[in-house]
Amino acid sequence: MQDSLETALLPQYEATPTSTLDTDTSTCLVTVIVPTFREVENLPILVPQVANHLADAGISFEIVVVDDNSQDGTDAACAKLAASFPLRLLVRTQDRGLSSAVLHGMRHARGSLFVVMDADLSHPPEKVPDLVKALQTDGADFVIGSRYTPGGGTDENWGLFRWLNSKFATLLAWPLTSTHDPMAGFFAIRRATFEAAAPLDPIGYKIGLELIVKCRCQAIKEVPISFRDRVLGQSKLNFKEQLNYLRHLKRLYDFRFGAWAQLFQFICVGSTGMIVDMLVFALLLLFLPETLARGFAIWTAMTWNFFPNRKVTFSQGRARSIGMQYVLFCMSCTLGSVVSWLTWYALYTAIPMFDGHPLLAAPAGIVTGTAFNFLLSKHLVFK
Ligand code: GDD
Ligand code: MN
Repeated sequence: MQDSLETALLPQYEATPTSTLDTDTSTCLVTVIVPTFREVENLPILVPQVANHLADAGISFEIVVVDDNSQDGTDAACAKLAASFPLRLLVRTQDRGLSSAVLHGMRHARGSLFVVMDADLSHPPEKVPDLVKALQTDGADFVIGSRYTPGGGTDENWGLFRWLNSKFATLLAWPLTSTHDPMAGFFAIRRATFEAAAPLDPIGYKIGLELIVKCRCQAIKEVPISFRDRVLGQSKLNFKEQLNYLRHLKRLYDFRFGAWAQLFQFICVGSTGMIVDMLVFALLLLFLPETLARGFAIWTAMTWNFFPNRKVTFSQGRARSIGMQYVLFCMSCTLGSVVSWLTWYALYTAIPMFDGHPLLAAPAGIVTGTAFNFLLSKHLVFK
């Protein structure tokens, strides 16, 4: 269905198969991939500029527009442009989303180097040859058109909120890559690097970051650009995409750091559980005897910890029913507390250093108890 639609929309140029890699790389050096959704006003400005700059630099190229069935006349605009420029339009009708559109374009690209850029002229077309050259000559395996490297920048009217937002998002990605602008949607990568990627499953907008991590890019070069605000059309970046970014980051952390990433999430969840425990305990003390209040507070905290651990920390572990997981989780937390207590008791009674200092022995108990609890959660509860 998709094939026939593409063929119907593209009478003048060849439709490409949608499931296989396009390996005919003899025709050009560079494929410029432009994901679009409702960018009919921008394409007639962008395409000639990109084409002219590449031609002036003596670089052979094709432009692949990946459109998610905008129905705004993008097909007619592309057909017109294709009469003068080496341009192909791929229309997707089943899937949607910026990242998957970029991957779709890469799978059908014919060049041996890929450049990805937005259609809205935020990314300066005159920098495309610089990205290509950096990838060819500087031994880089990933080149970013970067706003945050010396010489780069963003438009003045980027409000404080968008700027802060972008900086914060960048900070969260820092454990994954030290480059200054990992959020960028303007970048270049070699076909060979792309083909050697671990399985790609980006959610949301940050396809560049996904490729840096999954293609294990080491030598990342930044070419300074000034990011211009879009003049025509509308941005599609909304709050949902920001939440998607957090989900995407979690996946990338898990990929890069494995069990350590899970342990980190487990500890973060546990810390919130400790706060809940104390608050509930303080509240219950108002009406219940201490022993009972303590028991209820602990149980509330376990239940509190259960849900984010199931949904986030161990989101892959779906072998058991939720009821079974809950019972096992409460049991493993209880066992964890016993281990914590035993460790504390052993240290306190057997090691002279802790004699008379019961508080000092507690952290060791907390560490072993948490480790024990984590291992049970990982290997048994959320297997
Ligand atoms: N095919 C397709 N499908 N294209 C899409 C979709 C989609 O669902 N959503 C957006 N696009 C296209 C737009 O048409 C545009 O060409 C490009 O992707 C970027 O979309 P914008 O809506 O203009 O995004 P932005 O300006 O908010 O975000 C840009 O800057 C961010 C950094 O501040 C993008 O480059 C982001 O990748 C980048 O992180
Ligand atoms: Mn934009």
